[in-house]
Amino acid sequence: MINVVHTVKETRDQVNEWKAHGLSVGFVPTMGYLHEGHQSLIKKAVEENDKVVVSIFVNPMQFGPTEDFESYPRDLQADARLCEETGADLIFNPEAEEMYTDGFCSFVDMSGPTKELCGKSRPIHFRGVCTVVSKLFNIVTPDRAYFGQKDAQQLSVIRRMVRDLNIPVEIVGCPIVREKDGLAKSSRNTYLNEEERKAALILSKTIFMGQELVNNGMTDAKALINAMKENILTEPLAKIDYVEVVDFDDISIKDTIEGNTLVAMAVYIGKTRLIDNFIVTDKQLDTANKHGL
Ligand code: PAF
Repeated sequence: MINVVHTVKETRDQVNEWKAHGLSVGFVPTMGYLHEGHQSLIKKAVEENDKVVVSIFVNPMQFGPTEDFESYPRDLQADARLCEETGADLIFNPEAEEMYTDGFCSFVDMSGPTKELCGKSRPIHFRGVCTVVSKLFNIVTPDRAYFGQKDAQQLSVIRRMVRDLNIPVEIVGCPIVREKDGLAKSSRNTYLNEEERKAALILSKTIFMGQELVNNGMTDAKALINAMKENILTEPLAKIDYVEVVDFDDISIKDTIEGNTLVAMAVYIGKTRLIDNFIVTDKQLDTANKHGL
């Protein structure tokens, strides 16, 4: 059985022992209830490192007071099975008291890239993410850490944090994993009832539509956003939180699709808030231009 530890000390002791033998360490931070999206991160970590640590911690600090911290799905046994099958070596599963000891009052806060998109509708979210991820980096001291592109703003924020704070870890971004019908995998998909699950397809359909518009030469951000919003609103159960076009490096709003661009959306389906996105690279735009579009 995979080793599951609950304390900072046990995690450090194990990682130090590996490092003393010259082994490299990959790290996949998660909030558990693991699915194929997480599994793809663990697989990549296993391919690229001698040892892999997965953290499973539903971090209270990144949830707002009216958000789903209490109801967030949890299943440590199933998670442990998936980690073991995928080749991970250690699970760090702390209690909140282990991470936030009495009197805890130090935070990692970021301006700039946390202001738009999810940062707007979830004002304390990224302070919680940056604080817990920097703590986890200090505990696990990995060589590489793996984050999914599904949380594209988070990926960009973590890259910035690591650069700004000189944290010696390589951040590896991994592609979005989708259900067969297109819906991006998310632990929150379990909140959807049958009708909502069908309705949720409007997110991926709109992402694919947006991608096609860009591939066909659309460069005006407003036109793209309007077309995507119009499409989302054809689904009666959908309520738009945001559809935005931003620079993928600093998450600033863009008027024109050029350079590394992130097209991101958050949409409520019933009470469930889902996110999805696509990234446009210079290379893609070059191809569209070469085709005379
Ligand atoms: O992406 C997540 O699951 C969380 O935000 C993370 C990175 C594990 C921090 O709690």
